[in-house]
Amino acid sequence: MSSDFSKLRKFVSPEIIFGAGARKTVANYARTFGARKVLLVSDPGVEKAGWVKDVSDSLEEEGIEYVTFTDVSPNPREDQVMRGAEFYREHECNVIVAVGGGSPMDCAKGIGIVSANGGFILDYEGIDRIDAPIPPLIFIPTTAGTSADVSQFAIINDQSERVKISIVSKAVVPDVALIDPETTATMDPFLSACTGVDALVHAIEAFVSTAAGPLTDMHALDAIRLINGNLEQLIANPADIQLREQIMLGSMKAGLAFSNAILGAVHAMSHSLGGYLDLPHGLCNAMLLEHVIDFNYNAAPDRFKVVAETMGLDTRGLTTPEVKARLMARVIELKGHVGLTQKLAEIGVNYADISPLSAKAVLDPCILTNPRKSSKRDVEVVYEEAL
Ligand SMILES: [Fe+2]
Repeated sequence: MSSDFSKLRKFVSPEIIFGAGARKTVANYARTFGARKVLLVSDPGVEKAGWVKDVSDSLEEEGIEYVTFTDVSPNPREDQVMRGAEFYREHECNVIVAVGGGSPMDCAKGIGIVSANGGFILDYEGIDRIDAPIPPLIFIPTTAGTSADVSQFAIINDQSERVKISIVSKAVVPDVALIDPETTATMDPFLSACTGVDALVHAIEAFVSTAAGPLTDMHALDAIRLINGNLEQLIANPADIQLREQIMLGSMKAGLAFSNAILGAVHAMSHSLGGYLDLPHGLCNAMLLEHVIDFNYNAAPDRFKVVAETMGLDTRGLTTPEVKARLMARVIELKGHVGLTQKLAEIGVNYADISPLSAKAVLDPCILTNPRKSSKRDVEVVYEEAL
């Protein structure tokens, strides 16, 4: 066998409808899946913004029955998933539609897992632990960042352990993603910044992941280009729908990349941090990004150089340490322009928290594909740098 062949790689993705008005096709897809009754999952904020009614009106117009479940908090919790699964069974639903950001979408995935497989949601933590296929999932994201609408990840907050657990399985890739940039117009600037930086981190971590390959690299690099080139302008011009569309496209491509190439230490550490202090996911990533780049750089200098060039930096004639310094400076500059300049200490992390945070981070599945092997002590040092 020739050693010239690439390593085997797989790529999974939902059917994607991308563009303004995509959400309006929801009833058509629900009908295609033989919907008897739809469970519509969302959260109070998205409901207030009008997107739940928008979707339920579409279902009503087509005469499709539905019940609505909006008992979902930011960083969705195991008890919310279990209540949602009970609600799904009680109402004899057979299709799940989620509208919202990462929280309702991850909760909807959890509801699907438990309703088809029984048991307790936290028992499905890890990679490929789901046996029975879950009900059809039709997802309509209203933020541009999380990419739960295209990914094989579901992140649930384990309240007793104060940590977010990752469920990774092809079973939780939605059947259909209706990605409609119009829905992101109701995001405030802080949420736009957090979700946009999250998407950038998805793309960078996917590109330097040990599981990266030709099926994901093109999506990761496109995403870096789109987000690096448009996010700062979007925060300055939040009503610009064309910028929203570019960021939504970047987020989608970042999602396709990371769903298949997995992530790295930023997400492993961010899941630990977000579960511990119930903080916005994108903010956690933002506070860690340049410090993890600093830690990882020498394990994948050629890949990081491509990241730097894709972010518009001229690397000609520069040494490796100079490219690294420029890339970290650009990341810090971008974060500053979108208003994410917090350090861990400012949001309530103490030195004493670092050991338990690190112990949990090294158990997160995302650490497995980080380009540099990371011990608990390594992770502690990165948290200390970000303090
Ligand atoms: Fe993320």
